[in-house]
Amino acid sequence: MAKRSDAAARICSAEAGRVISSLSLGQYLATKIQFGRYALAEGQASTGAHGDGHQVRRFNMVDGRVAIVTGAASGMGKAIAARLDREGAIVIATDRTIDGIASPIGTGSHGLFEKLDVTNQDDWSRVAELANARFGPPSILVNNAGILHFSALLETTTEQLRAIIDVNLIGAFIGIRTIAPFMAAKGSGSIVNICSIDATKATNGASAYVASKWGLRGLTKAAALELGPLGIRVNAIHPGGISTPMVRDAAMTDEAFDAIYHDIPLQRAGLPEEVAEAVLYLASDRSSYCAGTEILVDGGATAGKYYAQLPGAPPFASP
Ligand code: NAI
Repeated sequence: MAKRSDAAARICSAEAGRVISSLSLGQYLATKIQFGRYALAEGQASTGAHGDGHQVRRFNMVDGRVAIVTGAASGMGKAIAARLDREGAIVIATDRTIDGIASPIGTGSHGLFEKLDVTNQDDWSRVAELANARFGPPSILVNNAGILHFSALLETTTEQLRAIIDVNLIGAFIGIRTIAPFMAAKGSGSIVNICSIDATKATNGASAYVASKWGLRGLTKAAALELGPLGIRVNAIHPGGISTPMVRDAAMTDEAFDAIYHDIPLQRAGLPEEVAEAVLYLASDRSSYCAGTEILVDGGATAGKYYAQLPGAPPFASP
């Protein structure tokens, strides 16, 4: 049987049909998915030596690609910008305020830390033009900026609802509308919307937030439909219980914060870096066949409910 690396090289050759016939369907699909043309949309595949010394094609993660990340001064946005930067992307990290805040981009990297209020079209246009002029058209957009407000539904004002929708939904909408044309012009791009597990269910006291995140989830689907034919993949991540200033009091210990999540399958809170890994996947060619996809990064919080009286319940399940 052919080694995987040999098979991959042959599949890329003009004799693909003949070689395929010597592989099982499963082998063919596995090889094609790992090495095939679908993964190489931006033509940046690299080669490298495998353990056995054979040269194989690798998926490009994000090396050399221009990425815009919103809300990057804090929490998840900061971790996402740093992760993309470490992986070789040219990251334009942005936030509504950047004065006096350390850049999430490593020193020596090419990226920038720029002011961008996601509700402001002028800010978006300026950052888009700046990125394009300095580094080329953006390939990656991560709509991460968000705000949270707690109040009972009957005490929530229209202004409070509008303020949340403005940042969490309209901010991402303006971002997509501004950046997608640059991606469309070159026929490729990846947009990742940071939604929430509150876009799959609801939390009491957070009706405005929940509404904004369900809206963003819907926008993700609509954008995936309309932008997919232009070569732009649009996907969503639903984090839940991530240790960031949005949901965690600065004075809280790790143990105290984890304790809030003691009854979910993974029994702890998540880290911003764990969300950044999922973003890296959706931003890169590794997710080349994902459009309109949703990834839960929530420690299993929304997987289901434990019934203590039924088999398989863990000791911490409440009766
Ligand atoms: P965070 O509060 O640490 O970071 C949010 C960032 O967004 C801040 O740097 C803030 O300045 C920025 N921002 C707010 N309004 C902005 C605007 N108009 N323009 C530009 N930037 C703005 O919070 P975290 O947790 O890192 O939140 C990131 C995203 O993840 C948000 O969309 C949030 O809704 C979402 N999320 C967070 C969860 C969690 O458990 N921490 C769970 C589910 C979703």
